[in-house]
Amino acid sequence: MKVAIIGQGYVGLTISAFAAEYFEVVGFDTSQKIVEQLNSGFSHIEGVESALLTKWIKAGRYRATAQGSEISDCEIVVIAVPTPLNLDRKPDLTFIDAACKTIGENLKKPVLVINESTSFPGTLRNFIKPAIERYSNNSVEHLYAISPERVDPGRGDYNQKNTPRLYAGLNSEATEKTREFYSKFCDVLVAVSSPEVAEAAKLFENTFRQVNIALVNEFAQIAHALGISVYETLDAANTKPYGFMKFTPSAGVGGHCIPVDPTYLAAVAEEHGAPATFIRRANEVNLEMSEYIVTRVTADNGGNLQGKRVLVVGVAYKPNVADVRETAAELVIEHLRSQGAVVSWHDEVVGNWKGEHSAPLEGADIAVVVTKHDSVDEKKILASAPYVFDTTGKVSGVRGL
Ligand SMILES: NC(=O)c1ccc[n+]([C@@H]2O[C@H](COP(=O)([O-])OP(=O)(O)OC[C@H]3O[C@@H](n4cnc5c(N)ncnc54)[C@H](O)[C@@H]3O)[C@@H](O)[C@H]2O)c1
Repeated sequence: MKVAIIGQGYVGLTISAFAAEYFEVVGFDTSQKIVEQLNSGFSHIEGVESALLTKWIKAGRYRATAQGSEISDCEIVVIAVPTPLNLDRKPDLTFIDAACKTIGENLKKPVLVINESTSFPGTLRNFIKPAIERYSNNSVEHLYAISPERVDPGRGDYNQKNTPRLYAGLNSEATEKTREFYSKFCDVLVAVSSPEVAEAAKLFENTFRQVNIALVNEFAQIAHALGISVYETLDAANTKPYGFMKFTPSAGVGGHCIPVDPTYLAAVAEEHGAPATFIRRANEVNLEMSEYIVTRVTADNGGNLQGKRVLVVGVAYKPNVADVRETAAELVIEHLRSQGAVVSWHDEVVGNWKGEHSAPLEGADIAVVVTKHDSVDEKKILASAPYVFDTTGKVSGVRGL
């Protein structure tokens, strides 16, 4: 059976690499550069080994393409394209719409369309299906299902195979075919009663993280004001064997999911007359962490950062990945620069970012640790500046949250 995966990023390429063991996979991506890289056997996604990709290419089980016509003989099409926020911080479904256009214009016989992109409840039923029908002039009746992606890039213990996967079709045939597809490479499949439940569950999972991270970030500020250690307090609370889950403070949230998905939930809630004030506030608390951190650093350094050489250590949105999407480091750097600091950053995992290169881990007046990759030596951080502020809880004996 031939499967098309629309979008060859973190989600799409990861799924492609798993599915290629059982299906012939066509990876469709609008980026010609990515397509060329992939067809040469180079994987740009952490967690998908280039060697595995090369193996599937040689076996004729995988190829990438930017030509929509190449998906025309597929029987299953998986959508894995970005679902960002627009400039007004509202859900932006333009990538989904473009994927629907590719599907509608190129698939002339009925297939199973599965959406893995994260979006608000109702997207499959009220946006994807009508869009594909419109682009195909209602000439074919496809089956439609959702199976939201839960992959956590950089994670060693849970992957596509052992992370339980939710799924639901618009009808029972779509549900059953979706189960058959994923059962080849996923151990645990969880059917839910409607696509809207699956879509909402995905958003709620990430909203749960956003809200709890905001709560612990607020608590870090309270603990500092009270003169107690936030980490010791959290460890103490965590001795309770039930009813508590430990989250740790940070400079904020980053990546494609946690800062974005709750806003999708809030937007659809408000459209339906249910104000999502708590979700909105959590987002604000996390965004405000960067300012709080810079205020603390400024206060510790004589109330003035003018001309000070500040090194931000770690700009990826989380440890051990090169992903800088929505990274909290960006706001920390902005606030430091607005105080007149001369800011550089060190992150050899990221390397280059926004036209700047990773600076050496040394010679600063102030170091602010935003993300600590395992490869970064704690002793080198401590030696990089006479004053170190740690937002990660991983550098001992210095000022921090
Ligand atoms: N990255 C994660 O950890 C993660 C986890 C769970 C869910 N998700 C969700 O999965 C979806 C995809 O995220 P991602 O992280 O894989 O994004 P990504 O940015 O890594 O990859 C998206 C890919 O889609 C391509 N693309 C854009 N428009 C296209 C189109 N019209 N047709 C074909 N290709 C197109 C881009 O060139 C890019 O290669 C999003 O909805 C995201 O919220 C992501």
